[in-house]
Amino acid sequence: MPTPHNSAKLGDFAPALLMPGDPLRARRIAETVLADSREVTSVRGNSGFTGTYQGRPLSVMASGMGMPSLTIYATELFRDYGVKRIIRVGTCGGLSSEVEVGDVVVALGAHTDSHMNVARFPEINYAPVASWPLLEAAMREAPALEAEGVKVHVGSIMSSDHFYFTPDGLNERLAQYGTLAVEMETAGLYAVAAEFGAEALTVLTVSDHLLVSGPEMTHEERETRFAGALRLALAAAMS
Ligand code: ADE
Repeated sequence: MPTPHNSAKLGDFAPALLMPGDPLRARRIAETVLADSREVTSVRGNSGFTGTYQGRPLSVMASGMGMPSLTIYATELFRDYGVKRIIRVGTCGGLSSEVEVGDVVVALGAHTDSHMNVARFPEINYAPVASWPLLEAAMREAPALEAEGVKVHVGSIMSSDHFYFTPDGLNERLAQYGTLAVEMETAGLYAVAAEFGAEALTVLTVSDHLLVSGPEMTHEERETRFAGALRLALAAAMS
């Protein structure tokens, strides 16, 4: 304490932590959601914040992009700082034809092309899955969101190491098998939570669709839809 990537002291982080990908998004969440927010770390410009939400402690810190980056931060938060649950709140690209830009996706489990969990389990295909109590708490908030016109999906996603490269036909096959969307972090998050006996959940806003062309989200739509995903993430964090 501190760790190579975190300058906070023991006790600076709350047991529950929201984890967007983008450090600026983390700052924005801290400014708009937390009361009495204070910056507890800022190594490499990746600031972490702790404050309260509805009178209870809550922290926010970004993962950066991809499983290696997320796994570094999450390992140190679980192992060294006593964080008990991390809720990733990010964006994804739609795969399933059921999913539209602006919808919310809650990740039950995450397929991956990453080697990170193969290194943990060379003998088997490890299945990274969400923490059921967190998933259940998030989904209790879903009907309220749907009543406001935001569709919420729960199912499997793909966590990819590549943003710009996909093997021919892979996205189509994943969609055929009911995979809702692709992002780059969740298979790492769910495995590292399991490693430390902690809890994790991913709640995503669909920012683009890889297989169905349609209108892009406006900046305002992006913000309102992200706020919807954040509501589910907060319900899980505070459960
Ligand atoms: N996150 C948001 N959109 C994505 C995409 N198309 N691929 C991977 N991650 C994403």
